[in-house]
Formats: sequence, structure tokens, C-alpha cells
Amino acid sequence: MNENENENRELTAPESEEPEKVRKPRPHPVQMRNIPSHLEGCAALEKLCFHEPWSAKSLELLCNDGIGVGYLCTVRTPDGTEPVAAYGGMLITVDEGQITNIAVHPDYRRQGLGDAVVKALLRHAKSARLASVSLEVRASNAPAIALYKANGFREVGRRKGFYTKPAEDALIMEVRLK
Ligand SMILES: CC(C)(COP(=O)(O)OP(=O)(O)OC[C@H]1O[C@@H](n2cnc3c(N)ncnc32)[C@H](O)[C@@H]1OP(=O)(O)O)[C@@H](O)C(=O)NCCC(=O)NCCS
Repeated sequence: MNENENENRELTAPESEEPEKVRKPRPHPVQMRNIPSHLEGCAALEKLCFHEPWSAKSLELLCNDGIGVGYLCTVRTPDGTEPVAAYGGMLITVDEGQITNIAVHPDYRRQGLGDAVVKALLRHAKSARLASVSLEVRASNAPAIALYKANGFREVGRRKGFYTKPAEDALIMEVRLK
């Protein structure tokens, strides 16, 4: 389906249809900025997806050049607001990136947003000439592990009992860029 067909479908949606059904995610990630709509939108996603969510205040770190970077995708809504549907963050130390989290709103999963965010972070890492990007992921998180493998990450280690609530090992995954 091309862009125009999608547009037409939205415009002709019956009036009785719930607004939620005509929401359309924007699959092109933009860089996270130090503005309330970005920080609070991503913090809300963190709360929805993780037991120990990053706050809006801690997400500010990812907006500081030299410390980190974040990318996010929004959703276009009929009332003109653009809530955050997906986001990912990466801390940068010298020439290494560490992905902190990738989160996609449950209503917008399996639509390529997680993949788009990971690719945006990797593009950023390449343009910043980083040597590698690594991350930790719960050993049972099959969707995330599949997403990372599809983007060139491979398992390089395991941290025993790294996670709590519930207790679980972390897989360490890495992609070398040089
Ligand atoms: C993991 C997560 C980020 C994936 O986001 P998403 O937008 O649904 O993923 P995408 O649609 O971009 O999928 C890209 C690829 O990831 C893999 N994938 C994603 N969801 C999957 C699932 N439920 N089962 C198996 N593979 C899955 C597939 O390889 C998929 O490619 P395909 O659609 O061609 O098969 C999302 O499920 C999420 O936010 N989960 C909760 C938070 C989380 O666990 N984050 C990772 C912490 S390390």
C-alpha cells in the first residue's frame, strides 16, 4: 500500500470509528530533544514497558552531545497531537555506544518502529565513528533478541542474575562497526 492509499483510508474513515483506529505511526525516527513532549513522551513509554523506568529527568542525559543520543517515532492523531510511539536511547563513551533501552508502545508493535529506531541509533553510531555498539537484554526477551540479531548484533556474553523483578540473566550483545 502506498502513502496516498493510506491517506485516503484515513480521510474516508467512518465518523463512528474510534480515533485510536485512525492513528498512524510515523516510521521515520527523529532525534530526541530536551523538550517536554519528547522527554515526557519517552518517560511514559518507559513506565509502560519496564519495571524500572527511566524518568524524564534521566532521559535528559540522552540529549547531551557527547553523553548520549535518543531517537523516537511519533503517531499522527486526528486532533493534531503527536504522542511518542517508540523510542530508543544510547549512551556514548569514547568510541563505544551502549543502547540503554528500546521501547515501542504495545498498540504499535510489529509495524517496524523498533527496527527503525535501532537502525537510526546504528546510523548515528556510524556517523560518530564509534567502534562498537553493545546492549544488555533479558535472556527470555525473544522479540528484542530477534530484533537485535536482525540488525547485526551477536551474543558476546552473559551477566548472571543481572535483572530483578523477575530475576534473570542478561545477554550481552554487540555489533562491531570498524
Ligand atoms: C522488542 C520491541 C522493541 C520490538 O519492537 P517492534 O516495533 O514490535 O519490532 P518491529 O516491528 O520493528 O520488528 C522488527 C523485527 O524484530 C523481531 N520481532 C519483533 N517483535 C517480535 C515478536 N513478538 N516475536 C518475534 N520476533 C519479533 C522480528 O525479527 C521483526 O522482524 P519481522 O517483523 O520482519 O519478523 C517491542 O516488542 C517492545 O517494546 N518490547 C517491550 C520493551 C522491550 O523489551 N525492549 C527491549 C529491551 S532490551
